[in-house]
Amino acid sequence: VKNEDSGPKISSVSGANRKRKWEEDDDDEEEQKAEESSDVDTSSDEDEDEQEDEVKKEKKISDQEKVQKKPSEPAIFIPVDRSPEVQEARLKLPVLAEEQVIMEAVRENPSIVICGETGSGKTTQVPQFLYEAGYASGGRMIGITEPRRVAAVSMSHRVAKEMNLPTQVVSYQIRYEGNVTSDTKIKFMTDGVLLKEIQKDFLLQKYSAIIIDEAHERSVYTDILIGLLSRIVPLRNKKGMPMKLLIMSATLRVEDFTENQRLFRTPPPVIKVDARQFPVTIHFNKRTPLEDYTGEAFHKTCKIHRMLPPGGILVFLTGQAEVHSLCRRLRKFCIQLKMRKPNRRRLLEAGIGDEEDGDSDLDLGDDPADAEEKADASIPLYVLPLYSLLAPEQQAKVFRPPPPGTRLCVIATNVAETSLTIPGIKYVVDCGRVKKRFYDKVTGVSSFKVTWTSQASANQRAGRAGRTEPGHCYRLYSSAVFGDFALFSEAEITRRPVEDLVLQMKDLNIEKVVNFPFPTPPSTEVLVAAEQLLVSLGALEEPPCTGRLKDMQRAKLSCPITPLGRAMASFPVAPRYAKMLALGKQQDCLPYVIAVVAAMTVREIFEDLDRPARSEDESSKLNQRRARLTQMRRLWAGQGASLLLGDLMIMLGAVGACEFAGCTPRFCENSGLRYKAMVEIRKLRGQLTNAVNAVCPEVGVFVDPKMTPPTEHQVVCLRQIVLAGLGDHLARRAQGEDLVDPKWKNAYKTPLMDEPVFIHPNSALFKTLPEFVVYQEVMETSKMYMRGVSAVEAEWVPQFLPQYCHFGSPLESPSPWFCSSTGTIRCHRSSTFFRVGWQLPAVEME
Ligand code: CDP
Ligand code: MG
Repeated sequence: VKNEDSGPKISSVSGANRKRKWEEDDDDEEEQKAEESSDVDTSSDEDEDEQEDEVKKEKKISDQEKVQKKPSEPAIFIPVDRSPEVQEARLKLPVLAEEQVIMEAVRENPSIVICGETGSGKTTQVPQFLYEAGYASGGRMIGITEPRRVAAVSMSHRVAKEMNLPTQVVSYQIRYEGNVTSDTKIKFMTDGVLLKEIQKDFLLQKYSAIIIDEAHERSVYTDILIGLLSRIVPLRNKKGMPMKLLIMSATLRVEDFTENQRLFRTPPPVIKVDARQFPVTIHFNKRTPLEDYTGEAFHKTCKIHRMLPPGGILVFLTGQAEVHSLCRRLRKFCIQLKMRKPNRRRLLEAGIGDEEDGDSDLDLGDDPADAEEKADASIPLYVLPLYSLLAPEQQAKVFRPPPPGTRLCVIATNVAETSLTIPGIKYVVDCGRVKKRFYDKVTGVSSFKVTWTSQASANQRAGRAGRTEPGHCYRLYSSAVFGDFALFSEAEITRRPVEDLVLQMKDLNIEKVVNFPFPTPPSTEVLVAAEQLLVSLGALEEPPCTGRLKDMQRAKLSCPITPLGRAMASFPVAPRYAKMLALGKQQDCLPYVIAVVAAMTVREIFEDLDRPARSEDESSKLNQRRARLTQMRRLWAGQGASLLLGDLMIMLGAVGACEFAGCTPRFCENSGLRYKAMVEIRKLRGQLTNAVNAVCPEVGVFVDPKMTPPTEHQVVCLRQIVLAGLGDHLARRAQGEDLVDPKWKNAYKTPLMDEPVFIHPNSALFKTLPEFVVYQEVMETSKMYMRGVSAVEAEWVPQFLPQYCHFGSPLESPSPWFCSSTGTIRCHRSSTFFRVGWQLPAVEME
């Protein structure tokens, strides 16, 4: 565990004018960090007079401006040996026309913003401009961040190929893997990777320029990176090691970055790349299907294929299940096209084929009879799915040309909206919806909901049709509905819990997260909730409970990080899981804790077999596989002691069994596991093992992929460790008067929700229904279901989680245990609690 004094503290400032104060604080912090990194001892300027601060600040600004105005680099040129074909293709990209303007702006400004339509060449070309201008010489690299892993990997390959350089030079780094070497000059990475690097070296000294790509997506890490870099860049300039920041966006909506005084004192210049976008004709539906938009997408795609000239079709749906279902339907349609007419009629009558609804919004003047002729002569449709959980080899297929004589048809989720450009698309079919994870700020319940997308993203989707020639976009909704769409999608940071970000920031010594220059700040409510959770987990110091109310409230938002918190911040997982890792060394449990945490972090380890089948044949296959998965789940859950670890035991069993079988695609397929998830779990286990070893080398954990099952003793210890991490997710089975209302049958009560929550039929504990459980999360589907449920012994709660307990006398409460609706778990101290069981694996690391 790191020493508490390892990071300098930032002075906390009270009083008016907090906005400016933050900037001061922040500068102080940066200075301290910087000096720390150059091994200069520094004393805190906590006592410094405010006025002095003001003077210092003015001086800083003028210094900064001086540096900013000085053209920093001589114009050099590093030649790149591109093939004539590549060179020719590049010259067609709109961004090439702006190379001079972009590079001049880069030379003259510390930060710039580039806006340009998807496909205009930003991601592939801008790193090359910087390379040619010498930004990768002198031992420093050019870094590019992407919000999606797929993009980081595929773009690094593409740029390496274009530049005719090996992947040791143009490399990528994503969470689990990378090919970065000491020769790397251009490094593509996910935004999370760069955030971790800032933790290690605040000044990012390895880089001469950072490109934040896809900033319009407003992913949380991208937002935070922009906030941090707005401070790092001036600091680097001040230190005489200039660094450039380029923010790239596919939309023109960049005011959150440019006109945000908290971010940039001088707004960065915005360079617009005129996309050589071909016109895209938009066709709205007359009516808007409320339910079956997948069916509507099917009809539209069939019609396009039958009636319109060659050109790829790209269909936007909301999720994996929909994508697969439409792929199957379309493939069937294609087979049907090859049949002779009578057969085809039969299929149509059976309701499998496309219908003729006569609604001719394709506007080509074809009459239906004509269309039928064409259908028989039609070329095959080459149907491919595309979504983020798809295996990489499958994903790569969309970039390759379709087999000769076929028409490409990609059925995608919104991954195809901006980060990937699929060649040859002429027709876009847009369902107008998007699946988003919603999160309830109070209860923490998540749910995936399909909602209307924004006008900006509908326009992005349409734009995919006009990359190479004029195209058409068929919107499966009316123009009136479009008019009601929000103009832009909201930033992700406003839609998710932020405890992980708060912890990362505290580890960067940003004590007052509330004053951080977020492009869009999360609500104070969400920040307070995050700090409270981190205090409960022991990652932050408890705020003082005395003083004026105002001071107390402020203290709640500036709790300093503890040594345990620093250890937790170094684990690349959510704070609740990080706490489990920090406790994991008890009873040799670490390998198991690592496996369980890895499995909980990688979402969806089981295949989704609950989807409805589309045919009898498929239905019987699905049923077989479901039965097999149920059997495997039961096997992995075990019996007796291990069963009480519940769903986490199933995960542990799945990981263990998969590793014993050599983690093959075949084993996964047969056992209902998602191969891609299992491979990720394996990588994450390795990464977590290294992280734990780095924090406590004395433990020296060695993770043998082929672990043996835990002993009974260890299972109990694991359950306690899980409880310590998931303590705020405790639920108690409904009892007493609650049961009068049938809605509480087999239900659980949680401190924060009024509604009953349930154990899912797939859970290991569905039949056991223990009195107390902890859960990984509550997902709202047909009911409020707890996921990742594990049983808890009642007496553990006051032992391990006194911070959540309200201790009173037995007289105060009729039942010794209940979760009150005010959010506390009430219980009374009774001697029995402390007689039971375990010499506790108390929180040794603290
Ligand atoms: O970043 P932006 O969307 O502005 O464009 P880009 O990703 O740099 O793509 C520029 C061009 O390269 C597009 O026309 C893509 O079709 C093409 N490209 C490709 O053919 N294969 C790739 N793997 C990546 C890009
Ligand atoms: Mg791009």
